[in-house]
Amino acid sequence: MSDQTMAGRTVLVTGASDGIGAEAAKVLAARGATVHVTGRSADKLAPVAEAVGTEPLVADFSRLDDVRRLADQVGERVETLDLLMNNAGGTFAPSKRTPDGHEPNFQVNHLAPFLLTHLLRPKLAAAGASLVVNTSSIANLMGKIVLDDLDYEHRRAIEFPAYGTGKLMNIVFTRGIAQRWPEDGVVSVAVHPGPVGSSFGRDSWLVGLLYRSPLKRFATISVTDGAAPLIALAERGPDPEINGRYFSRFKADGRENKQAGDQSVIDGLWERSAALAGLT
Ligand SMILES: NC(=O)c1ccc[n+]([C@@H]2O[C@H](COP(=O)([O-])OP(=O)(O)OC[C@H]3O[C@@H](n4cnc5c(N)ncnc54)[C@H](OP(=O)(O)O)[C@@H]3O)[C@@H](O)[C@H]2O)c1
Repeated sequence: MSDQTMAGRTVLVTGASDGIGAEAAKVLAARGATVHVTGRSADKLAPVAEAVGTEPLVADFSRLDDVRRLADQVGERVETLDLLMNNAGGTFAPSKRTPDGHEPNFQVNHLAPFLLTHLLRPKLAAAGASLVVNTSSIANLMGKIVLDDLDYEHRRAIEFPAYGTGKLMNIVFTRGIAQRWPEDGVVSVAVHPGPVGSSFGRDSWLVGLLYRSPLKRFATISVTDGAAPLIALAERGPDPEINGRYFSRFKADGRENKQAGDQSVIDGLWERSAALAGLT
């Protein structure tokens, strides 16, 4: 019998149909949590949902209406949410705008989880003390947030920098939550899982090339190892010590883009994202 470190906690994991999200969901359920799982593909999500023992919640983050429906479904299922793992993400060809008309790296990696977290805020607050874990990336170092053009309407988006910008936004959003929602008892943390040999890059010709090549064996760590820092943070729970911080795997205060500490970026991203997500 495994240890029950997560007993009594209610969790939602996004991007749970594959990779480190699927692994984290299964481990947290095995450690006693009630784990709800969401992913874009019903077929891929079904076995994970079966493993954790809850009904799958299918939502495509390239459609904000799916995110709104997901939040409603979660709201009907749970009274309180102890842990939200915003983990869905990836690299996407910028030329293919989402059905909502947004640049896809921006929407899937940032705007959709930003909206979901806001819609679930009452459930997080109802827990008394809760934790939001945002899966970021070392790629944040390649990002650049242009507040007046978050959605690449006035410049060309290039795939990997656009992905890195989304992952930088995950850290900036983490800081925003830490500053704005303390009275709700919501603690937030961002984490780089390491270079994981998951299905990462599947939506990208360029990144997929590396992750599908023989190099993958030498350049990446296992999905189990990649999920481990997320699980460690989940088990640590809403510790004020970690609030607003960025972990590089298990190490607090990983290398981050200097924009991540810029207050005008933290405030500007929050306000503009809220407007784009229809929250204001
Ligand atoms: N692998 C790495 O080297 C690495 C490094 C740093 C950070 N990360 C981050 O870690 C997180 C998990 O990635 P992973 O390595 O586990 O990759 P993965 O195996 O590709 O898993 C990504 C998950 O996100 C979901 N997803 C992708 N697009 C979506 C959309 N439009 N709507 C809803 N869900 C969507 C995927 O769903 P489907 O199964 O339907 O595709 C899948 O469940 C991502 O945020 C990624 O940016 C990964």
